[in-house]
Amino acid sequence: MDSPSGDVTTPDRTTSATSSSAVAKPATTAAVPKAAGPIVESTPDPPVNQMRRRIVWASIAGFLTTCFLMFLRFFLPRAIFEPSTVFKIGFPSDYALGVDTKWQQQYRIWVDKTSDRLFVVYARCTHLGCTPDWKASENKFKCPCHGSGYDSEGINFEGPAPRPMDRAHVEIDPEGQIVVDTNRLFKWPKGERNEFEDMDKGAYLPL
Ligand code: FES
Repeated sequence: MDSPSGDVTTPDRTTSATSSSAVAKPATTAAVPKAAGPIVESTPDPPVNQMRRRIVWASIAGFLTTCFLMFLRFFLPRAIFEPSTVFKIGFPSDYALGVDTKWQQQYRIWVDKTSDRLFVVYARCTHLGCTPDWKASENKFKCPCHGSGYDSEGINFEGPAPRPMDRAHVEIDPEGQIVVDTNRLFKWPKGERNEFEDMDKGAYLPL
């Protein structure tokens, strides 16, 4: 069709196509994700130090356990269990004349038998309380601490010991056995009465 001016206006297909293409293009561009800015590399969190954590917990548990045990201990009796001071040592006929040391370790005594009596010497030096040794070859007791010497009946004769060694209470039970009580001691302090002769009180057994 002719234009009024005589010019024939034909649609510019190329331009139109180009326009269509230009219109459609933004849709294609919108589908592409925008760049999110500069990429920052993230580093992983440092690993937890498991060993240090275990040590801390073990310390706390140990502390709490100790406190709990101390709490329990508070309710327990604070008694010292010592061996009895009263015990049997067999029959008088079990002993030969002289000094018998078989009860020294267990009861800290020596059994002393003479021709007319049996008595029990408490094995404690009267100087400062050490336990003397029986020297059979020398027939005497010798204290290793400061050198006090006692004869076979526990009578002091040398060194700093101030008096003879004490003797324990003895008696015969219904079976005929010797019963010793180291809580009841007989003494012979220098210049004072000799308690070793108190047979009726249990200082010795007559034979
Ligand atoms: S304790 Fe025995 S001599 Fe001193």
